[in-house]
Amino acid sequence: MRTYGVAVHGAGWVAAEHVRAFAAHPQARVTVISSRRAESARRVAAETGQTHAAVETDLDAVLQRPDVDVVAICTPHDLHPANTIAAAAAGKHVLIEKPAALDLDSLHAMRTAVQAAGVQSVVSFVLRWNPLFDLVKAQLANGALGRLFMAEVDYVHGLGPWYAQYAWSRTAAQGRSSFLNAGCHAVDALRYFTDSDITEVSAYAVSGSDRFEYPGTTVMICTFANGALGKALSNLDDDAPYKFRISLYGDRGTMLDNRIFSQTVRGQTDYAEIPTVLPDSGDVSHHPFRGQAAHLLDCIERGQESHVSLANSVNTHEACLAADLSAARGRPVALPLA
Ligand SMILES: NC(=O)c1ccc[n+]([C@@H]2O[C@H](COP(=O)([O-])OP(=O)(O)OC[C@H]3O[C@@H](n4cnc5c(N)ncnc54)[C@H](OP(=O)(O)O)[C@@H]3O)[C@@H](O)[C@H]2O)c1
Repeated sequence: MRTYGVAVHGAGWVAAEHVRAFAAHPQARVTVISSRRAESARRVAAETGQTHAAVETDLDAVLQRPDVDVVAICTPHDLHPANTIAAAAAGKHVLIEKPAALDLDSLHAMRTAVQAAGVQSVVSFVLRWNPLFDLVKAQLANGALGRLFMAEVDYVHGLGPWYAQYAWSRTAAQGRSSFLNAGCHAVDALRYFTDSDITEVSAYAVSGSDRFEYPGTTVMICTFANGALGKALSNLDDDAPYKFRISLYGDRGTMLDNRIFSQTVRGQTDYAEIPTVLPDSGDVSHHPFRGQAAHLLDCIERGQESHVSLANSVNTHEACLAADLSAARGRPVALPLA
């Protein structure tokens, strides 16, 4: 059984969870933790019990190491494109934290670099490994909802000074917009559930607080290639507990989070609740990073592209960029973006 060496780059809040996730996998060994400051990498190594890992401050030095096969990119959003392009050029597989990029040119350049290098990629839409997501996909696959014609996902996550990355992600330069900064999880969920690409986006934005250099709340309505409609909300202005709400409407049934009403169940008179783990926390220690790490290693082992590869995720990011354009221009924006 081959063991893969993993470098985790950008030793902040989420990095520790990637270290834990890879360290727990029988085919992975965290060989390097790197960051702008060595003390941050050392802190994450100590916190996660991975003190054998080398500490680096220079990504190029990390990428030259033969004991690194995979790089988990956990730096602030604006650094993801350059980090990804460098890692792919060095022949390393990449796990890219979301958002992959903040602008179209960078997004496309990353996709080209990953494809040219022939490495595997996963964009960290980690909720795809949440048990409710599994439950929804299973109900869709077994026909309990029939043909899905409308999907809604609301990402409600009040961010402020209490949040580790707030100092930089509140800025337009490094956070950019509500959907790109965080609500992209909702857009990815819409695409995962509808199993289709977004073709047009209309959006409105509002500042519900004075905490961001951009409107903290944006809502988008979108069309899908398969004819379905979608709605996604990204609300970072909220001051209430985190919520990730899912409503799916099909021609044979409806799902509201983990409650389902299906015409395929004879005699059902009201929604039935299925106990599961809900995506009801914004805390990274609650997120299923182990499932995601195992999936990337499995893709590498089999030489198979992920269902949430960078190439797959381009449509999600273009939809977020289109929402910002639509809200600014006051008209619908068609995808793919030119
Ligand atoms: N998928 C999810 O659910 C999820 C959850 C949380 C975060 N994220 C994503 O993960 C990324 C990081 O977020 P975070 O909350 O972990 O932020 P964070 O706590 O601020 O960590 C980012 C780290 O990057 C390092 N860094 C900054 N500039 C750097 C540079 N030029 N070179 C190398 N390292 C640099 C900083 O390390 P130093 O201390 O060394 O300066 C900082 O500790 C973001 O893109 C975010 O969207 C995703």
